[in-house]
Amino acid sequence: MNKLIIGNWKSNKNVTELGSWVEHLNKNLIPQLSATVAIAPPYPLLQPLAKMLEESRQSVQLAVQDISAFPAGAYTGEVSAVNLIDLDVRFAIIGHSERRKYLAETDSLVANKVDQALQNKIMPVVCVDDDYIATQANAIAADQRAKCVVAYENIAAIGSDTPTPVEELQPVFEKIKAAFGEQVVMLYGGSVKPGNAGKYLAACNGVLVGGASLEAAQFADIIMAAAGSE
Ligand code: PGA
Repeated sequence: MNKLIIGNWKSNKNVTELGSWVEHLNKNLIPQLSATVAIAPPYPLLQPLAKMLEESRQSVQLAVQDISAFPAGAYTGEVSAVNLIDLDVRFAIIGHSERRKYLAETDSLVANKVDQALQNKIMPVVCVDDDYIATQANAIAADQRAKCVVAYENIAAIGSDTPTPVEELQPVFEKIKAAFGEQVVMLYGGSVKPGNAGKYLAACNGVLVGGASLEAAQFADIIMAAAGSE
C-alpha cells in the first residue's frame, strides 16, 4: 500500500503565498513517487490551490481540516460535505486536538462529522490521543470505524520539535487496531520533519504533517522519504 502523507496548513497562508509554495514543490519533488500525498489548506485556498496543482501536474490531492457535523442546510458558517461535492476533496481531517481544545469538539460531534464525510465519499482522517482512543472510537458507529484513517497525535508532540519516540508507538498502534479494526490505516503526527519522517513512515501507513508542510521544500523531502521507507 502507498504511504499516505497529509499536510495540514492549519490557519496559515493566503492566496498570494500559494504560487511560490507550488513552485517550490515542483522544484523539489521528483514526480511519479508512489506515495499518496494530500494538502489540507484553509477553506478559502482550496480552489486556487487545486487549480495551481493541476496546472503544474502535481498529483497532490486535496484535503480539508474540518467538515460540518450537519448535512447541507440552515447551519450558518458551517461547511458541509455537500458543499465540497465537485471540488475533488479526498480527505477530511476530523477531531484534530486543536479543534477538540479550542472549539470544544466532542466525541459525538466528531462521530457525526465522520458520518457526513463518509456519506459524501470523503475519507475521514480521525485524530486520536492515546489516553482516549477507545472512547473516541466507540463514539463512531461500529460499521464506520474501519472506514476511517486514524492519525495518532500526542498533544505534547504537536508543534514542539519533540516528536513521540518511534519506539513508543507500537503499543498505541495496538490500541488503535483494537478500537478501529485490525486493517485500519494509521498515521503518525506530531513534529514530523524531513530528518525523522523516514522512521515514522516505516513504522505505520503515513504521516500527518503540520509545520513542515508550510515549507514546500521540507514537505517535498518528507514525501521523498516515503520512497525509502517502502
Ligand atoms: P506539527 O503538527 O507537524 O506542526 O507538529 C501536526 C498536526 O497538528 O497535525
